[in-house]
Amino acid sequence: MPDELLRYRTEFPILSRTAYLISNSLGAMPCGVEDSLHTELWNTRGVRAWEEEWWMLAAQVGDEIGALFNAPQGSVACLQNVTTCQATVASCFDFSGRRNKVVYTDLNFPSVMYLWEAQRLRGARVEMVRNDDSINVNTERLLAAIDEETLIVPISHVIFRSAFIQNVEAIVEKAHRVGAYVLLDSFQATGTVPFDVQKLDVDFCTGGVLKWLCGGPGTAYLYVRPDLAKKLEPTFTGWNSHENPFGFEIGATRYAPTIYRFTQGAPNIPALKVAQPGLKIIAEAGVESIREKSKRQTALLIAMADRHGWRVNTPRDPERRGGTVSIDMPNAQQVCAELLKREVLVDYRPKAGVRFSPHFYNTDEELTKGIAAAEEILSEMKVGP
Ligand SMILES: Cc1ncc(COP(=O)(O)O)c(C=O)c1O
Repeated sequence: MPDELLRYRTEFPILSRTAYLISNSLGAMPCGVEDSLHTELWNTRGVRAWEEEWWMLAAQVGDEIGALFNAPQGSVACLQNVTTCQATVASCFDFSGRRNKVVYTDLNFPSVMYLWEAQRLRGARVEMVRNDDSINVNTERLLAAIDEETLIVPISHVIFRSAFIQNVEAIVEKAHRVGAYVLLDSFQATGTVPFDVQKLDVDFCTGGVLKWLCGGPGTAYLYVRPDLAKKLEPTFTGWNSHENPFGFEIGATRYAPTIYRFTQGAPNIPALKVAQPGLKIIAEAGVESIREKSKRQTALLIAMADRHGWRVNTPRDPERRGGTVSIDMPNAQQVCAELLKREVLVDYRPKAGVRFSPHFYNTDEELTKGIAAAEEILSEMKVGP
């Protein structure tokens, strides 16, 4: 059966020069990005660009992102990175009361761990649940740690090291049963693993566009459950979160009734413009089709790694596996550096190995080429001086 998704290959120039297997880190650049900056608007309309397009852009891009995970219109804010999004969430809460526990696991992405750890200074009790290995989250252990004193559970949806997909339903069920919020970091899911924030009933969801959404650096998103959004008042605030930013009122923030209440200062316009071509392609390709292909190609990678006797640090169950296969071969870090020189683009992470992340635009031949190149590098290492 022909692979329909390959029709998008011509939209991504780098695919003609490399085996681009690193969309877990930075998705390939669509050619539409060259024109997306619209410097013309700035050049010809000058400061009027703000009211003619720029002020509305963050909400518009937020809606384009939100459509990928069924967020209602107006429920997604665009900020600069995931850490800033989570800092905005943290700033909504007071940790001085009895319900002040923050519960997550040691497989979360470190940047957000540092952020939540730092909330200890504001009175938070942080409980980091340890897992037995670097692949799987021990869901039972995590559930047991969520109790009546838990305020929030900030978890990764897909684990960055292993691509393990968390049991979000069970975590939300337990958290809500005891009155805690769930913040889902879907950075490694959006664009490759379909999900629905309303069905999952998460309270917050964060992520960025630079990986699986091919949107480049500088745009991240924060979804806040609409009924909850109205009640929260982030202390990490600014004129853009004010109900009347152009009133330049003095004193405390009067919060905007819109998603802008979770933003701070002026939006990052170039990054928002750069994000749009990739978002359009992903929406058109469809995350469900991307997922089907991803399950097949990640299985193919696992089979090839097994054939070489390399350790696979990614779940074998396709339903629990996201878009990446982490393969730990001997000298994995050096192998990775050498693969990059040979135009096979992958990355290396400690406790994971070399991460191969095929996306909708990759051919099976590129996977074979990547694995064969790793094999060749290893054999050269053995016979080399
Ligand atoms: C799950 C996850 N969260 C967060 C980040 C990074 O967040 P930020 O946008 O703050 O750089 C990454 C980056 O690789 C990630 O994989």
